[in-house]
Amino acid sequence: TNEPTVPSPLALGPEEWGPHAIPDPLARDGHERVGAPMPRIDGPQKVRGAAPFAAEFPLDGMVYAALVFSTIAKGRITTLDTAAAEAAPGVVLVMTHRNAPRMRPMPLFETSEKAAGADTLPIMQDERVHWNGQPIAVVLAGTQEQADHAATLVTAAYETERAVTAFAQAKAAGTDPGHFHGPLHLEIGDAEEALTASAVAVDATYRTPPHNHNAIEPHAATVAWYGDELVVHDASQVVSHTAWSLAYILGIEESQVHVTSPYVGGGFGGKLLGQHQVLAAAAARLAGRPVRIVLSREGVYRLIGGRARTEQRVAIGADADGRFTALIHTGTHATTRNNAWPEPFMLATHSHYAAGSFKLDLRMAYLDMLANGSMRAPGGAVGVYALECAVDELAVKLGMDPVELRVRNEPRSGPTDGRPFSSRHIVEAWRAGAERFGWARRNPAPGAVRDGEWLVGMGCATASHPYLRMPGGAARITLTATGRARVEVAAHDMGMGTGTAQTRIIAERLGLPPDRVSFAFGDSAMPGLVPAAGSQQSASIGAAVVAAQHALVAELLKLVGDDSPLAGLDANEIGAMNGGLARLGEPGRHESYAAILSRAGRDEISVEAAAPPPLEMTNLSMHSFGAMFCEVRVNAITGETRVSRFLGSIDCGRVLNARTAASQIRGGIIMGLGLALMEETQFDERYGRILNAGLAEYHVPVHLDVPEIDVIWTDIPDPYAPVGARGIGELGITGAGAAVANAIFNATGRRVRDLPLTLDKLM
Ligand code: MOS
Repeated sequence: TNEPTVPSPLALGPEEWGPHAIPDPLARDGHERVGAPMPRIDGPQKVRGAAPFAAEFPLDGMVYAALVFSTIAKGRITTLDTAAAEAAPGVVLVMTHRNAPRMRPMPLFETSEKAAGADTLPIMQDERVHWNGQPIAVVLAGTQEQADHAATLVTAAYETERAVTAFAQAKAAGTDPGHFHGPLHLEIGDAEEALTASAVAVDATYRTPPHNHNAIEPHAATVAWYGDELVVHDASQVVSHTAWSLAYILGIEESQVHVTSPYVGGGFGGKLLGQHQVLAAAAARLAGRPVRIVLSREGVYRLIGGRARTEQRVAIGADADGRFTALIHTGTHATTRNNAWPEPFMLATHSHYAAGSFKLDLRMAYLDMLANGSMRAPGGAVGVYALECAVDELAVKLGMDPVELRVRNEPRSGPTDGRPFSSRHIVEAWRAGAERFGWARRNPAPGAVRDGEWLVGMGCATASHPYLRMPGGAARITLTATGRARVEVAAHDMGMGTGTAQTRIIAERLGLPPDRVSFAFGDSAMPGLVPAAGSQQSASIGAAVVAAQHALVAELLKLVGDDSPLAGLDANEIGAMNGGLARLGEPGRHESYAAILSRAGRDEISVEAAAPPPLEMTNLSMHSFGAMFCEVRVNAITGETRVSRFLGSIDCGRVLNARTAASQIRGGIIMGLGLALMEETQFDERYGRILNAGLAEYHVPVHLDVPEIDVIWTDIPDPYAPVGARGIGELGITGAGAAVANAIFNATGRRVRDLPLTLDKLM
């Protein structure tokens, strides 16, 4: 009943689906799935220390940067004394607003397809201070230690102004409607009235604290000017965006900026464009020396925005059978003015459940603080937490099993837009997950299961993340007469296994063994605008490679002679296999790449092509889903929670590489355990300063906090996704938090709605 009514792009000719749409010849030819586990191809280099990260590019004459941060939230710098720092050993330059080159502010993320800026504040251009922790000086010295020491010698005095640094104060000052590529408010029917009239209802407020980024590799860049050309070795999930944005800020051409990022030690939405790359480029120009900037762990907290504080209302009305008659998800999040990133917590509520009426809304309250950024599943991580806890609360009120309640409200098409699903198998995921986890053994009575001083409970939640594929994907394929292929896309591998999964799938696609294929990425000089963000890279690269393969086949067909077995065939009749091309369904009619090229007297052939526009995204309801199951043990004496078991049953289309994909999901779930139990940026509401700017006091799950995490897949290819795969990068964190909270309720009977669920709240 949930089958799409629009035809698959894979079953259509290009002209039918769109002007640039290209079906995947492999899918039509029934090639096998490529999901078998493959170990990381970059593992050995990383283990040997042979993989150069951003802070490991050695450049002649390079100097090291250290930053000085403001200690007030708002006001003016009245004196800034740099004399002692300038006289310190090894110092070559102290840059402040007095001597920094003139630069434009960052181009806001929303304003251009290539813009990567989080805010539009001036970057060290005047004496104004906009947040507590703003960089006010850059010190360059011969060693990192000399730079760090000299930075401590810079002194500043300020004239402070009244700042808004408390959430309650910000809300009282008036809020604005949230927006992200358009307004976010949505009403279908009269949800408030339906709620009042419903047989059973829950209406609760959930609060989530701000979170900061803590990738293993702190933000870093090694930058050098060669004449008027700027080279930035960055830790980035957006190399092409960064090149364009730096050019805009510095007033030079995009072609004058080259950004590389071959290895990244975690990104999670934090490794975009920050002030540090801009300041390093400006200081390098001023000093006439290459500069390496590595943010200290504290520096990451001062400079790189994370997840916003939210206060969410979720209200659900249901009839006596549990069918939703009203679904309300509204609330407010903290932000700054001129900020690119909303925290759209209500977005997931568009797609989880059928309901008779909807009311979805987001308000923004403005503080004087660091602009929040994007952090793994923006909106979704905290929004799905609130929604899925409310569903659990309703199940308790109804006396219904929470899995059954979810299945009962399974929609037949996109609940708020009526679009057909591309592929939605969440019910299968629930059934398989419940079976594997032993859900039937759960005692639904809260606080009923005890093991010594430990209370034991099980909880579940739906996870979801929207499918995304932004326009701009492109790829280049170079094929040699020796039968090797090199594929280039300006994409990224932040540790999630892009290079490994893509090498495998490209090899299958080209009909070559994986060791004859190299996949190159992480360089703005390569084709494509392919951000490692929004869980879209696999689809984006896949669409581009399919397009490039079609271009390659067309070029190769121009080279085949009359005596080739391929003579007279049309590109649409051809597939790739056994190191060459063959007629689909007639594998004997085959010629190897080497034979085609050598007969034509060519050493190699190179083609570049753009991906088709992402029509699948605009025509269909496309999301990845998961059924998350958690078992916790809560100590009745101390209140501490231990997660003892976790299972993610995932419906994400085709799984490209079972090994790295499971690792992605596990990583997201682990981050979800942190969201549920410990992560919290402690923001001093008197001074607007982050108090716990470091891993000593900002707690994340460590190995002893993480049980074995089981991951299973529906593994049903999505016929509308370019390689059958929807996204998985952000999916895991959504749902995990609610599964933990719901398990804690089942264990203890305590419903805590303020994250994190620390032991003091459970006592
Ligand atoms: Mo993500 S927060 O889109 O890297």
